[in-house]
Amino acid sequence: MSLTDDITTPSSAIPDPATPYQGDIARYWDHEARPVNLRLGDVDGLYHHHYGIGEIDRAALGDPADTEREKKVIAELHRLESAQADLLLDNLGDIRAESTLLDAGCGRGGSMVMAHQRFGCRVEGLTLSTQQADFGNKRAAELGIGEFVRSRVANMLEMPLENGSIAGSWNNESSMYVDLHDLFAEHSRVLAVGGRYVTITGCWNPKYGQPSKWVSQINAHFECNIHSRREYLRAMADNRLVPQAVIDLTPDTLPYWELRNTTSLVTGIEEAFIESYKDGSFQYVLIAADRV
Ligand SMILES: C[S@@+](CC[C@H](N)C(=O)[O-])C[C@H]1O[C@@H](n2cnc3c(N)ncnc32)[C@H](O)[C@@H]1O
Repeated sequence: MSLTDDITTPSSAIPDPATPYQGDIARYWDHEARPVNLRLGDVDGLYHHHYGIGEIDRAALGDPADTEREKKVIAELHRLESAQADLLLDNLGDIRAESTLLDAGCGRGGSMVMAHQRFGCRVEGLTLSTQQADFGNKRAAELGIGEFVRSRVANMLEMPLENGSIAGSWNNESSMYVDLHDLFAEHSRVLAVGGRYVTITGCWNPKYGQPSKWVSQINAHFECNIHSRREYLRAMADNRLVPQAVIDLTPDTLPYWELRNTTSLVTGIEEAFIESYKDGSFQYVLIAADRV
């Protein structure tokens, strides 16, 4: 079956059983049109809803007085967001063209397009938002890869996928909307034995003690529930996911936030990220795990 077979009439409602919370999240993303996401995506047509990593290319930014400065900053922020997705894909391991990958909480589908371009394989995306699924499918069709890249409105806690059918799966900044035990049970079910799971996420640091005031602000801003690093590792261990890499990306993401904080695209949450990364209460991590 081609991936496009059943995307002609995307569902406008979240499949049952939907909790009232999931309804809120679907509405949030259906109405989301922040310039910081759309203008960055317009740079090259890869639309991300995640943050960036890596060193700022100061030469690319040019002179602060340059009339084109804002445009250059946007291009640079976008480059760092794509670098983040590239790192996630680097950690999926050896993926073959005949494999199927899963993006759980796929947003507008930027990471899915990058995955197909890199591996040549099929990529299934799940999001609660009809707007996002439609956007992602339209974009894939425009790129001529609609046969390979499909977004669906579906709950990642009830994935519409067969047991063991997925070679690699990920959550790119989408695991803070769900219970981790329920989430990893589903990844574990759909992943083939030997398959790879990767997440990039913000998490609170158990060494700090409890979620800091900054973490609470981030939760309120995005209507989410940030988990601790310990919770990730425990929930993986309980669900046959064995970590192979845990990378602290906090120092790599700070330059992105500091640059973003200088633009007219600020959303008001920048200070909470910068301060919590600096006081050690919040961390940006990549965890890659094997399904055993
Ligand atoms: C911050 S965005 C990240 C989007 C994307 N991963 C990216 O990197 O651009 C969070 C995404 O998680 C999705 N999401 C949240 N809870 C979900 C659930 N229970 N099932 C499916 N998707 C969910 C939202 O619909 C949204 O697309």
